[in-house]
Amino acid sequence: MNILETRKDLQTLLKRWKDRDDLSVAFVPTMGNLHAGHLRLVEEAHQRADRVLVSIFVNPLQFGAGEDFASYPRTLDEDRRALEDAGAHALFLPSVQTLYPRPMEEMTRIRVPGISEMLCGASRPGHFEGVATVVCKLFNLTRPDVAVFGEKDYQQLAIIRRMVADLDMPVSIVGVPTVREPDGLAMSSRNGYLTAEERRRAAVLQQVLQTVSAGLREGGEMQALLSDAHGQLIEAGFRPDYLQVRRRSDLAEAVAEDRELVILAAAYLGRARLIDNLSVDR
Ligand code: PAF
Repeated sequence: MNILETRKDLQTLLKRWKDRDDLSVAFVPTMGNLHAGHLRLVEEAHQRADRVLVSIFVNPLQFGAGEDFASYPRTLDEDRRALEDAGAHALFLPSVQTLYPRPMEEMTRIRVPGISEMLCGASRPGHFEGVATVVCKLFNLTRPDVAVFGEKDYQQLAIIRRMVADLDMPVSIVGVPTVREPDGLAMSSRNGYLTAEERRRAAVLQQVLQTVSAGLREGGEMQALLSDAHGQLIEAGFRPDYLQVRRRSDLAEAVAEDRELVILAAAYLGRARLIDNLSVDR
């Protein structure tokens, strides 16, 4: 696996792959601390292109003041080994200086209005501007044919799709279903923040989404279902941030006629902020 730390090394490799050998490239951007969910993205990338390029970059621009940028788990040696085993062809490891050579507050930003300000964007102002900006920069640097993202970050995926469409970026976006622990908890780097006791309760988040989904399919009243689910989360020791049913296509508030829905939730359990979602057709 090629390890690339500079723009120059990356450009040299891409010239060889894309311009000389006419190979297609699938890109998997990550913040590291890789788990089976990330490795599933790498597996999908292998199905989609000749070469698989992964990046690891803990992006300061997408963390708010008081969030976990400093303590975000950094496990480069393990990550590198896992990517070797998964057959990734190259790993791009830019430094903050490489991606943000000028003061971050002066750098050009990408803002995807509307869809970035709801749900996680409402509780984490500026978060999705940081995500869209870094993903745009990484796309410009890595020139992928395909880029692969997890559906666990459902809103992030919708924002990236919107950005790519609005800015005519020449890359296909592929979403991959969430990989779960045996009890249903969505895999996430932030699960490591849970104590053993919190971990035992964490799957309740997915369970309440399943309950709301079943209720919607049976024709239940949405607000009543959400209110019950909210109560169940509190009973299990969560501090819910949001629990909402949205239209899948654009994350707008769901109305009675909408059939293709997604239930989205974010909730704190101890120091971990967990997110999850579940698609439902009614
Ligand atoms: O989902 C993530 O890990 C990050 O938000 C991403 C897409 C790598 C951008 O930093």
